Amino acid sequence: MVGPILIFDSGIGGLSVFEHIHSRLPNHDIYYLFDNARLPYGDLEEQELIRGCVALIVNQVEKIKASVVVVACNSASTLVLPELRNQLSIPVVGVVPAIKPAAQISKTRHIGLLATPGTVTRQYTQDLINSFAGDCEVTLIGSSELVLIAETKAKKQDINLDQIAQILSPINDSNIDTLVLGCTHFPLLQQEIKRALTHPVQLLDSGDAIATRVMSLIKDNDIAKGKLKAGFTKGIDEGLKMTLADYGFTQLECITVAN
Ligand code: DGL
Repeated sequence: MVGPILIFDSGIGGLSVFEHIHSRLPNHDIYYLFDNARLPYGDLEEQELIRGCVALIVNQVEKIKASVVVVACNSASTLVLPELRNQLSIPVVGVVPAIKPAAQISKTRHIGLLATPGTVTRQYTQDLINSFAGDCEVTLIGSSELVLIAETKAKKQDINLDQIAQILSPINDSNIDTLVLGCTHFPLLQQEIKRALTHPVQLLDSGDAIATRVMSLIKDNDIAKGKLKAGFTKGIDEGLKMTLADYGFTQLECITVAN
């Protein structure tokens, strides 16, 4: 029996990645782990982010005997992958903002990166831009507000579309034709983002590429549908429980890690 895939994020963003993985590996058990006690990650100090993520993930991998870890969070992937790989003997898959495919398709040679304040300022992101989008103008927009709007939507509460339009105004005021959603929360706001944009812009995320990578590491089981379970670090409200159930997560647990 192969252990579950552990998908990790600070909040509900990793569900956008889960959808891609689950549609390709429907018979595989998946454990969705999110660190809502420390959200948003985009504002956390780097060492604090690394320490907390590594302790939480390693502890849960051992507990559930996971076979693969997917760090479905750009803000964490830009920092924690080396230490996680150091401590774990199973494959660890990270997320990379889709800068390379964006640069390949942009006609105006002006692309946008919408991510968290942490991701847009990291060297990791700058290196990606230098390597793959050197001939493009790249506009960086870092927003934790948008992360919190996605969380509000996931709680089935009303969100403010004007606030989204305001965050996206640098894109509307430019000739950007391709926008990288470099935070896994943002594909969950895809429709609202499209509505707020005033000219045609292609949106790109990394969900499908991650699912392809995971599939190269494990085969689907040929038994009945995979079991889904979610764990989080702080109690959640009814709206979020309903959203998790919409994705198939009805088995839920609140977990704590001793420091
Ligand atoms: N979903 C995460 C990402 O991809 C992080 C959101 C946050 O906690 O700031 O960056």
